[in-house]
Amino acid sequence: MGRLSGRTAVVTGAGRGIGAAEAKRLAADGANLAVLDLSEERCQETVEDIRNSGSKAIAVACDVSDASQVEAAFEKVAESLGSMDILVNNAGVIRDNLSFKMSEADWDTVLDIHLKGSFLCSKAAQKYMVEQEYGKIVMTSSVVALGNRGQANYSSAKAGLQGLTRTLALELGRFNINVNAVAPGWIETEMTKTAAERAGLTMEEMKERFAKNIPLRRFGRVEDIANVVAFLVSDDASYISGETIYVAGGPSSSVI
Ligand SMILES: NC(=O)c1ccc[n+]([C@@H]2O[C@H](COP(=O)([O-])OP(=O)(O)OC[C@H]3O[C@@H](n4cnc5c(N)ncnc54)[C@H](O)[C@@H]3O)[C@@H](O)[C@H]2O)c1
Repeated sequence: MGRLSGRTAVVTGAGRGIGAAEAKRLAADGANLAVLDLSEERCQETVEDIRNSGSKAIAVACDVSDASQVEAAFEKVAESLGSMDILVNNAGVIRDNLSFKMSEADWDTVLDIHLKGSFLCSKAAQKYMVEQEYGKIVMTSSVVALGNRGQANYSSAKAGLQGLTRTLALELGRFNINVNAVAPGWIETEMTKTAAERAGLTMEEMKERFAKNIPLRRFGRVEDIANVVAFLVSDDASYISGETIYVAGGPSSSVI
């Protein structure tokens, strides 16, 4: 029996990267998974990995920035899996540029997916969580919440998520719902590969260059984040709420 046995979890943006690692880790701890991403096709690899390991998983296609798609997706999860115990808001994109060159569309896309998407999914999930008087919500912030050149949109969204975390913790605590955030440092995924390419570096060059400034002297792995999220959504963390946990190989301020 895993510590999440019998629980139902939704992980957004779980088709690859950190979200895929989180979905697999929660499944390994016993949860039934709703793997949510832009299309069912994008969810497939994660769903198959989870099913092959003997756990239950369904694919849910949904753009988290679209309110009607989110409503429909969460109804599908509740119908298919029978409850809504855990939500990990992880879906995200980057559209980096210096502020004076950043388009309004790139600002809107990033804010809509990270911040509005997390709000919409949390709103849809809390309806079920309040009724059952049990729930765990985790937001995905970033060390970039503290500011980063070329990421005004992303930094604002990630800082906003910390405010949303604290506010939802205040509003939902009385219903036995914990709301926390994880704030990763540099983690090796397709998203960071895109950032490396934009800076004219290969992933290996970026890892080597950044590792020198990280106190633990290594780039992060997706499992580093999945392990912390697995703790935050478990009852081992049942008296933690409204917190942002930096997972960055050192104090957050030294890692950007
Ligand atoms: N990689 C890092 O170094 C790092 C650091 C800090 C925070 N984060 C955050 O972690 C999360 C995951 O990042 P990653 O590196 O795994 O990225 P990734 O690009 O590898 O994966 C992101 C996933 O989100 C999905 N997605 C994008 N837009 C969506 C939408 N509108 N609706 C539903 N799904 C959508 C994508 O299809 C993809 O599967 C993001 O919120 C990111 O900002 C990443």
